[in-house]
Formats: sequence, structure tokens, C-alpha cells
Amino acid sequence: MLKVGLLGAGRIGNVHAKAISAHPGSELVAVSDVAAENAEKLAADYGIAVKSSDAIIADPTVDAVLIATSTDTHSPLIEAATAAGKAVLCEKPVDLSLERAQACLAAVEPTGRPVMIGFNRRFDPPSFGALKAAAQGGAKSARRSCSR
Ligand SMILES: NC(=O)c1ccc[n+]([C@@H]2O[C@H](COP(=O)([O-])OP(=O)(O)OC[C@H]3O[C@@H](n4cnc5c(N)ncnc54)[C@H](O)[C@@H]3O)[C@@H](O)[C@H]2O)c1
Repeated sequence: MLKVGLLGAGRIGNVHAKAISAHPGSELVAVSDVAAENAEKLAADYGIAVKSSDAIIADPTVDAVLIATSTDTHSPLIEAATAAGKAVLCEKPVDLSLERAQACLAAVEPTGRPVMIGFNRRFDPPSFGALKAAAQGGAKSARRSCSR
């Protein structure tokens, strides 16, 4: 059973809490949020503890952390969690700065810990591909009509 700590109890944090709790191989064990009311509501919904992000990351009984906090906190939390030996699923994007995201990757690699970025479209049916094909089809039609 993978014990998961959730950082961030906002909109997407609540989606992840439901998924972690529903999966037979994972257990949601604690939640943090700088907005105490968000953490307390989610904790009450799932019967789990409210802790600080630092406490969750430092807890040796926590196997993995799911980072669903505001974007500007992702890089430092990924770095802290992997340095503490946790597996990480972090919401997209890694950072608002490409350079900072690259620095985060450089910090994570030596830890050898698995880090995945939650980019839901990667697993969607090919909606973007269909859109691109339709747009290209439209562009060809547009070119055809222009050439007439
Ligand atoms: N993959 C997707 O499709 C998808 C969808 C929605 C959001 N997101 C990403 O998820 C992240 C959160 O989005 P959201 O819509 O849930 O925002 P939100 O504002 O609803 O929730 C963010 C929560 O994080 C908390 N928070 C902020 N800083 C914190 C910190 N240092 N420690 C603990 N908690 C902290 C806030 O108080 C808030 O409750 C964003 O980075 C966003 O880009 C991804």
C-alpha cells in the first residue's frame, strides 16, 4: 500500500484526493495547505490528518507526495520531496521559468527518485490530434478556396 501525502487542497488537490482514495494500492494519509480551511475541509472529507508540507515531506512513513499547490511552489517542493526520498507526482507545470524547471530537473536527477508531472492531456483520447487534423484540413480547404 503506497502511503501518499497531498500538498495543496484546492481544486485539483480534491480531484487527486478522490483518485488516491479510490485506488486499492494507495492510501491518502495527510494533507497540507497554506489556506487552513482548505486543508481542514479535505481532511474531514477523507478522515486524514492536516500537517504542514514540511512535516509531510519529513515523515518517513510517507512513500510519495502529490503536489497540487500553486505553480510557483512546485520546483522547491519537488526538490524537497525527492531529497527526502519521496516519489512525486506534481501537477503541471514544473515552474513558470524554464531555467528554474531545468534547475529542478538537475536537482532531482541525482536523487534517483521517480517524478511524474500531471499533464492530463497526455492520457486523453487524441482530442488535440483531432483538432490539429481538423485545423489542417480546414487550412487546406481555405487554401483551395483561395486558389479558385
Ligand atoms: N493537469 C491539469 O489538468 C491541471 C488542472 C488544474 C490545475 N492544475 C495545476 O494544479 C495546480 C493547482 O491548481 P488549482 O486549480 O487546484 O489551484 P487552487 O488555487 O484551487 O489550489 C491550490 C491550493 O494550493 C494551496 N497552496 C498554495 N501554496 C501552497 C504551499 N506552499 N503549501 C501548501 N499549499 C499551498 C492554496 O492555498 C490552494 O488551496 C496549478 O499548478 C495548476 O496549473 C493542473
